[in-house]
Amino acid sequence: MFPHFRTRKNKSLKKAYERGILMATQDRVYNFSAGPSMLPLEVLQRAGSEITNYGGSGMSVMEMSHRSKAFQKIFDDTQAKFRALLNIPENYKILFLQGGASTQFSMLPLNMIGKTGKADYVVTGNFSNIAYKEAKKYGEINLAASSADRNHVYIPAQEQLKLSSDASYFHYCANNTIYGTEWQYVPETGNVPLCCDMSSNIMSRPVDVSKYGIIYAGAQKNLAPSGLTIAIVREDLAGFELPYTPLMMSYKTMIEKDSMYNTPPCWCIYILGLVCDWLVDLGGVTEMEKVKANKAKMLYETLDASRLFIAPAEVGSRSDMNVVFRTQSEELDDKFVKEATAAGFTTLKGHRNVGGMRASIYNAMPTEGVEKLCDFIRSFDKNN
Ligand SMILES: Cc1ncc(COP(=O)(O)O)c(C=O)c1O
Repeated sequence: MFPHFRTRKNKSLKKAYERGILMATQDRVYNFSAGPSMLPLEVLQRAGSEITNYGGSGMSVMEMSHRSKAFQKIFDDTQAKFRALLNIPENYKILFLQGGASTQFSMLPLNMIGKTGKADYVVTGNFSNIAYKEAKKYGEINLAASSADRNHVYIPAQEQLKLSSDASYFHYCANNTIYGTEWQYVPETGNVPLCCDMSSNIMSRPVDVSKYGIIYAGAQKNLAPSGLTIAIVREDLAGFELPYTPLMMSYKTMIEKDSMYNTPPCWCIYILGLVCDWLVDLGGVTEMEKVKANKAKMLYETLDASRLFIAPAEVGSRSDMNVVFRTQSEELDDKFVKEATAAGFTTLKGHRNVGGMRASIYNAMPTEGVEKLCDFIRSFDKNN
């Protein structure tokens, strides 16, 4: 019943995705949620087709022992596909964890701050601020830069970073989901390991992983359902956790047990594997970078050309994943969200910290969804 997407030609899938045909054939809305967010339709269909009987096993992946051969193969294949897509060097371990990116706000300092007792943090929004405050419990934290002075509408430049040479690590958040800003450069920190929260832009563009000590991401935006957190850990950095670090929060434990110290989030890992297949068929992250840049450009150009709408994030710092915008009045914002929802564009209401609207256009949002949203914005602009 469902087409098996691995049997399709890469090009036709890519075209179908770009033209939004995959959406048009199904009774689905364009879901602009910031996360959990859209998953590729073909991934959902494939998972649906296998939900009661995975690969002839007579059971769902949800029902499978994580110690079974069948699941071990899913796990190993997913790890290998993830490594290949992001070109992750062999001296980095890929961990499939739980607890969300928020748990990494504690796990990171617990494992990393021991070296000098100090770390550098940049605050560019809500989540990097939570990470900064959490890290303060474990050591001396230097605020290397903050964009709070202008309500986080910009990303500090390299020259603005006040770096400490004795920091155990440097932490930043690559894409600020709530404020709609994204780092367009990789900070230069010399010998201090770079640690990065990539929850909301991982797999949307190539990353030179070798520049980083640790990368982590909650899966529920670009990768898989919520419940899975990925950590990419340079192996030599593990094993120096503070003595009171909970067993479950030690990178070393998880590396030694290949993420299976306890039961891992099996279903999410399986879906991640399908998402990786989908990305490979589209041409990988290099291709995805072009597609996502085009979608974001279309949307920002439409907003900038309008009379009513303002996109507050500064040019040069704007996120390609979360496009934040508003009108001059809250009533008009509400009207926009209401009418957009009725037209099939859902979850456009902005985060309560910022107000207005936010269109999260992660990897799985087809180009057609953004084109249609742009049409809707133009007609709303004309009629109000
Ligand atoms: C950039 C970023 N970091 C961290 C988090 C927190 O993630 P979680 O809910 O997985 O703990 C989020 C959630 O939206 C986020 O967008």
